[in-house]
Amino acid sequence: IAVDPFDLIVFGATGDLAYRKLLPALYHRHRDGQIPDVSRIIGCSRRPMTDEAYRKTTLDALEKFVPQHEREPELVESFLKRVFYVPVDATAEKSGWADLAKVLKEGKDRIRAFYLAVSPDLFGVLCEGIGAHGLVTPETRVIVEKPIGKSLESATVLNDTVGKVFKESQIYRIDHYLGKETVQNLMALRFANALFEPLWNAAHIDHVQITVAEALGVESRAGYYDTAGALRDMVQNHILQLLCLVAMEPPSQFEADAMRDEKLKVLRALKPITGATADHVTVRGQYRAGASAGGPVPGYLEELGNPQSQTETFVALKAEIENWRWAGVPFYIRTGKRLPTRLSEIVVSFKTIPHSIFGDAAGQLASNQLVMRLQPDEGVRLWLMIKDPGPGGMRLRHVPLDMSFAQTFKVRSPEAYERLIMDVIRGNATLFMRRDEVEAAWRWVDPILESWSAAREGLKPYTAGTWGPSASIALIERDGRTWHEEL
Ligand code: BG6
Repeated sequence: IAVDPFDLIVFGATGDLAYRKLLPALYHRHRDGQIPDVSRIIGCSRRPMTDEAYRKTTLDALEKFVPQHEREPELVESFLKRVFYVPVDATAEKSGWADLAKVLKEGKDRIRAFYLAVSPDLFGVLCEGIGAHGLVTPETRVIVEKPIGKSLESATVLNDTVGKVFKESQIYRIDHYLGKETVQNLMALRFANALFEPLWNAAHIDHVQITVAEALGVESRAGYYDTAGALRDMVQNHILQLLCLVAMEPPSQFEADAMRDEKLKVLRALKPITGATADHVTVRGQYRAGASAGGPVPGYLEELGNPQSQTETFVALKAEIENWRWAGVPFYIRTGKRLPTRLSEIVVSFKTIPHSIFGDAAGQLASNQLVMRLQPDEGVRLWLMIKDPGPGGMRLRHVPLDMSFAQTFKVRSPEAYERLIMDVIRGNATLFMRRDEVEAAWRWVDPILESWSAAREGLKPYTAGTWGPSASIALIERDGRTWHEEL
């Protein structure tokens, strides 16, 4: 379904995010006929460049990040016609704002979205520029990317800065995990089926695991990454959002504030991890040289070129939610770079049956597990105990009911940014984070960071290509459980 005509102004138009994600995502939406003809994508950055030159950059991006069979020449050409460029140097005197204002005047009644795909240091000056040049119309929205701060304090400052120019209802804070198909599917699974919800509580669920593993190292992003680390980069945003979607109460409707109110309650109910407990329930690691599928790889410190860095590239922790639904149910979380494979999944482990009628000969009874695979090979598996076929008596086996997205739906699965950018144009904030959520997440993360910096020796090395420091295995095994591993 086509959206209303819009102008999307991308600050940071020559940056990595625009190149790898935004331009390809917009092309796909164009290809599906969702972008009305008059709409424009207006790239802005400091670099002087013509429309033509930016169209060339856009073409490069499509050639790199859109498969060839999806690049029909006439569609690529019509897409490039929608792409424009205005150099704007937000920090300089003669800055290009007037040129941008002139270009935007032509579409003054259209939906207008500013995408701040830049370092957060520039949010303030860009928002001021947008405000001071009268570029905010009633139909204007702003999209901000993470990192939204490094702590509660800096996040509050950033939110205040953006809030001076835009109302909260105009601000779209992207967490691209919320745009992933399978993440949205988690809500469908929970709230469009009668089967799970009655069991979705501490009486029936033993524990939950959330794993977001990456095989890549920090690559060219070491500069940013070293100021962040895995807890800020992945847990504060993506993983806490996943945890909220698993743990929240059913909202009364699938609507922005109803959803965000429920997620906020979960964040506020997270048991604080402070000083003494942090040692016990968190593990942080940093990769050393090892191997990936492509051969030997250097360690983090070599990649960074700084042997002193104490930044964690891995974190495992045990979170608890202090409310009636979840009391006593641990949520084990782990994420890291240079793990053996790229794998994101949520595993809900149910309690074991109270009594087995089958006796020892049946084999060991494993508990039911619902595994939601976010990437790669998106799908849902429900592990059940089933009788082994054959006349050999009542022998039981743990077998999955398996739903693979690729096999069930033979259509291309859109990238998160495609969905999210179109949601901004439609004015649908359901999959975006509200200010209070971001701040509540920092309120929980800050004390963990503080206790880590007080105990500097806590960082544990792990070999690239392994599942992190052995302490992360001990973290869950101490509780008599193991990390989920599929065959
Ligand atoms: C980003 C992080 O938000 O998410 C990166 O900054 C990480 O460090 C990326 O690699 C992971 O996203 P995805 O979609 O590849 O799982």
